[in-house]
Amino acid sequence: MRRHFPAGELARDERFVRRSQTEQLADRRVGAGRRERSRMTPESRTGPDRARAMMHGIFTGEIQAMEGAGRTCWDFEVGDGADEVPFELKLDMARQCWDEARHCEISVKLNDHMGTEIGEFVEGTLLYEAACNPDPVLRLTGVNRALEGLAIDVFNTMREFGRAAGDPVLEFCEDWMLADEVTHVKMGSRWLRELTARDRDRLERALEFQKVVDRLFSFNGLRGEEDDSPIQLTRRFREMAGFTTEEIDEIADMARDEAGAVS
Ligand SMILES: [Fe+2]
Ligand SMILES: [Fe+2]
Repeated sequence: MRRHFPAGELARDERFVRRSQTEQLADRRVGAGRRERSRMTPESRTGPDRARAMMHGIFTGEIQAMEGAGRTCWDFEVGDGADEVPFELKLDMARQCWDEARHCEISVKLNDHMGTEIGEFVEGTLLYEAACNPDPVLRLTGVNRALEGLAIDVFNTMREFGRAAGDPVLEFCEDWMLADEVTHVKMGSRWLRELTARDRDRLERALEFQKVVDRLFSFNGLRGEEDDSPIQLTRRFREMAGFTTEEIDEIADMARDEAGAVS
């Protein structure tokens, strides 16, 4: 099996529709044409469709998170070279791969529960692309801190939506997956610290890469901690996962900048 597998060749059956992130964000069903930036509630006019779109995005995101963790397990040999990893890191990735596989199953059932078919919304490959960095530390930082950090924010937002809608299935499923995502971010925080303990340059490169990925995941300011941010930045769970207050402040500022730039 070859290493460093490109996003364009990921296996999907004919039900999946792949498009760019720009096209994904231009979907008028989720309010793109009206620049909808309100909090997603069950009562709002576009709320139910936006929740269905988010759930479909979670499902395709879980597939890509599983693929990314699986690749990280496979792509690097055990060792302490620049393109090698400790065996324990591979074990963490194997555990994550298993978690994500379970999340795929839960998410596809939740899509069904919400009346959505696979392919009703498009799939971008941005998440998997963050898992293609050839440096394992940069990859872990992009995936387990930026991407999994986004998963924390999205799951918490969906959990709140489930609670507001009086839907215990949605609420509890999201809550359980959220607990796994906090663990995944913690793994990223741990390996970032351990693998760069004696290499300041590598640490800085990794944090820079995380910033680039985090900016992409701000989705033009859709994620933030303002009252009307459609995806709520979640301080409490990010702190549990090893983010410092300064790091969370930085993501919140980034989101504010992005929102200001498009409004
Ligand atoms: Fe997941
Ligand atoms: Fe995850």
